[in-house]
Amino acid sequence: MNKKIIDGKKIALKVTSEIKDKIEIMSKGQNIVPGLAVILIGENPASISYVKGKEKACKDVGIFTQTFNLDDSSSYDEVSKLIISLNKDDRFHGILLQLPLPQHLDSDKLINLINPKKDVDGLTSENAGLLLLGKPRFVPATPLGIQKILLEENIKIEGSKILIIGRSNLVGLPLSILLLQRGKGGNATVTIAHTRTKNIEQLSLNADIVIVASGKPNTLSGKMVSKNSIVIDVGISRLSDQTRKTGYRLIGDVNFDEVINIASKVTPVPGGVGPMTIAMLLNNVYLAATFSQKRPF
Ligand SMILES: NC(=O)c1ccc[n+]([C@@H]2O[C@H](COP(=O)([O-])OP(=O)(O)OC[C@H]3O[C@@H](n4cnc5c(N)ncnc54)[C@H](OP(=O)(O)O)[C@@H]3O)[C@@H](O)[C@H]2O)c1
Repeated sequence: MNKKIIDGKKIALKVTSEIKDKIEIMSKGQNIVPGLAVILIGENPASISYVKGKEKACKDVGIFTQTFNLDDSSSYDEVSKLIISLNKDDRFHGILLQLPLPQHLDSDKLINLINPKKDVDGLTSENAGLLLLGKPRFVPATPLGIQKILLEENIKIEGSKILIIGRSNLVGLPLSILLLQRGKGGNATVTIAHTRTKNIEQLSLNADIVIVASGKPNTLSGKMVSKNSIVIDVGISRLSDQTRKTGYRLIGDVNFDEVINIASKVTPVPGGVGPMTIAMLLNNVYLAATFSQKRPF
């Protein structure tokens, strides 16, 4: 593999193997098998494929998992009843509501019905607030995975200028807070760009690390990076490709072919941030299971 390409799969394998060992010790020593309940509403092909990936990853490390499939037309009351029953179900230490939800459902309201101690996606107001206050409990898996990539690759975070393109509650915003925090994996000087930001090219050229989570292919082109730039591509878009069995291929938000020729290091899509997101979700489920014996909060 080109030395400039950051192998997210390899890092994820290492992290996953460590989690597997910890889970084995927990299962044998304390008789606790971490459990994850996944709620999947409707038949969005991308969501179905993500859930399958999560189910397999859970199985591989010894996490008990069950997916609750609900119909596209499920009402708010039906989904909320399921969440409330899963909050009380001791088999599940973590609950994950696969997003996006069908339009008629209020995601924010439903997410906040999840017991924050089971909110392994870190999206409830309580967990977002704890992160903001520098007391993180569950951090969303993608930001956590990105931070882990930087740490594992020995990329200097402290004192670095980091540009994050995207300000979503799922990626950009929590990531900015994570990298800004005091302590290991933090202390960066973070700038967030979004659709109203002027002169992103200049901000990007000035940054040591550029993290792109815009959901728009080609947001970062070759002329926006310098030879020392570290580039992390979070985006996942499906591009129609009839030469593939699936009929599509995945692309990120970065113009990879241009950027790889200039920047110092780049994550690929697929095989970069994606596998790390799953690995950190497993980590969050393990963490949730530790709360069933001791309650640190
Ligand atoms: N690899 C993984 O595991 C993983 C996990 C989660 C998400 N993703 C992918 O990451 C991407 C982002 O996800 P998300 O949930 O954060 O998306 P999102 O909610 O759509 O947010 C996109 C953000 O990017 C900003 N943006 C869009 N186009 C831009 C542009 N041309 N220049 C500057 N800013 C721009 C938007 O700005 P405004 O706020 O101004 O609209 C918004 O803040 C998606 O492709 C998603 O599939 C991947």
